[in-house]
Amino acid sequence: MDKKELIIKAKEARALSYSPYSHFAVGAAVLTKDGQVFVGANIENSSYPLCMCAERNALYNAMMHGYKKDDFVALALSADTDQPCSPCGACRQVISELFPRKAPIYMSNLKGDEQETNIDELLPFAFSGDDLK
Ligand code: THU
Repeated sequence: MDKKELIIKAKEARALSYSPYSHFAVGAAVLTKDGQVFVGANIENSSYPLCMCAERNALYNAMMHGYKKDDFVALALSADTDQPCSPCGACRQVISELFPRKAPIYMSNLKGDEQETNIDELLPFAFSGDDLK
């Protein structure tokens, strides 16, 4: 599975979004070393703070299938944004804990714009479990 295919999986996952409040569908897909792909979409709630983002749902989906940080090789996300859709701050913190720091994160939109980054770039100086010791 290459970058293009993973981005397509993230775009397809938008169809699973439950977003009756924002009407903003986000899709994400995480690729594992053994070639499995786990998707997530944003799931909203009438109690707005309970909304869950696509990226976190994708990572949690993979973890519920037994995969862990070192098994993950790439993450893609996509939404109907002007620029390639960028993970929110809460997702950056979760990605920072659960996803390898240098592994590629492919941000994309529906117009075909793509930008590759990683969590080291998206969340430098991250707070982590090490800080709790
Ligand atoms: N959303 C995501 O799923 N991922 C992000 O990184 C940005 C925001 C969702 C949350 C909410 O359901 C909707 O997009 C509008 O903020």
